[in-house]
Amino acid sequence: MKNLFDQWNVSLAAMDKGPLKADVCVIPVYAQKKVSPWVQAIDKAHDGIISSWLESSYVGEDREKSMFFVNKGDLAFKDFLVISLGDAKKAGQNEIRNAFGKASKLISQRGYKSVAVVHGDEKIPFEYAMDGFLLGSYRFSKYKEDVKQSQSLQTFIFATSHKNKKTYEKHLSHTCATTRAIFLARDLVNEPGNVVYPESFASIAKNETAKRKITYKVLSAAELKKQNFNLHLAVGQASDKQPCLVHLHYKPTKKAKKKVALVGKGITFDTGGLSLKPPTYMVSMKTDMAGAAGVLAAMTAIADLALPVEVHGIMALAENAVNGNATRPDDVVRARNGKTVEIENTDAEGRLVLADALHYAENLGVDYIVDAATLTGACVIALGDEIFAIYSKDAKLASLIENAASDVGDKGWRMPLEESYKSQLKSDVADMKNVGGREGGSITAALFLSNFVEKTAWAHLDVAGPARASREFDTIPKGGSGVPTRTFIRFVETL
Ligand code: BES
Ligand code: ZN
Ligand code: ZN
Repeated sequence: MKNLFDQWNVSLAAMDKGPLKADVCVIPVYAQKKVSPWVQAIDKAHDGIISSWLESSYVGEDREKSMFFVNKGDLAFKDFLVISLGDAKKAGQNEIRNAFGKASKLISQRGYKSVAVVHGDEKIPFEYAMDGFLLGSYRFSKYKEDVKQSQSLQTFIFATSHKNKKTYEKHLSHTCATTRAIFLARDLVNEPGNVVYPESFASIAKNETAKRKITYKVLSAAELKKQNFNLHLAVGQASDKQPCLVHLHYKPTKKAKKKVALVGKGITFDTGGLSLKPPTYMVSMKTDMAGAAGVLAAMTAIADLALPVEVHGIMALAENAVNGNATRPDDVVRARNGKTVEIENTDAEGRLVLADALHYAENLGVDYIVDAATLTGACVIALGDEIFAIYSKDAKLASLIENAASDVGDKGWRMPLEESYKSQLKSDVADMKNVGGREGGSITAALFLSNFVEKTAWAHLDVAGPARASREFDTIPKGGSGVPTRTFIRFVETL
């Protein structure tokens, strides 16, 4: 799988070290319209075209209304795109990311091939500008014959001042590692289930890790059987695509500050199994491996950034399909940790594969286990499609995740692991059943998982809502969003 990011040419240029050349030049200004000496210099070299625009046009707080193209037909830049970031005092990192994401979309639509983004005002935190601009330029068009890849935006020049070159080089290489990872996660989610299935996902993971300081191990279906991953196998047994588990391991060169296991639900397609989903609910269930995609993607960035933390990445991969061998409602299966589970609903399969994977992760002896899963529709009802749920009994771990999410512009919200709701999971025939009632469905799913982590600090992220963008956002086109990749990376960075 080719990563779009690797086909791009992304570089830093020193504004004050000679002329730039690109099809279009992006000039950000705050609503205060105070332009920096750099923009003044560009302006002067282009007959005052920017200042006359600023004088005559409304460049206000409304970012939507404050983007305009200025055609110049000049040698260095064909066009300028002036964007307003709104009130300088009010523009936080998300506003900056979004404004640049929106600008990148406008530019992509117009068919430019190269862009220079000018750090027009030193007050602008340029790291978020680079972030937003690159994220907003993502597209998934490989199956569209009418979109010629070579004719789209490929060259990105970020122009900033020479005197802070080192700082911006650091920012840019960080942005490149995370953006590339997010593109990988988005691609994996956007690819359909006939392309991304357990075995092909594993081989993508193998390719991604071969070039990095990450060891790769796959537990085949036969190996899973030997190791009693019976819940995982029960989910995958009705598919011609064999289930498997990918275990990646990154160890920093120096002594690790902490040891972490990231665990991802990797249902490459969720039909619901014999508890079959109705057609309209089944659409987009190729997204059901977003947790695993986030784990793989985060592992690549963690290695690229050489973070000083030891990280295990565990991806529980299976297709939840139907055939004569499908797991039936009422079946009782013994989990890897020895507990028995009555499978009342085969569509609650994510918690089954995760149960065994969490037990496997706990045996690795890590300080923290964090899993991410598109686990429940109930979570989407509770928090909507932009916010993921954070469950943890460990207040410190929960706040590490909350902070990591808000640092990178992801939205996470802590939810209660209300023990008394565990009664919903009581089974007449087994230690527990895999579903509760309709009430608090995301909570009971998390409680189910809690049966499989005994003593390690553990957090569960239900990303069913934000894993896929059902509408376009400034920095996310419709489709896979890359959530939870960035939160994972940031979390590991802050340990
Ligand atoms: N993959 C789904 C959850 C989901 C729903 C993700 C919508 C993204 C968007 C999960 O496997 C599932 O089907 N859960 C059931 C659980 C129920 C049977 C208790 C659900 O949410 O309906
Ligand atoms: Zn399901
Ligand atoms: Zn599912």
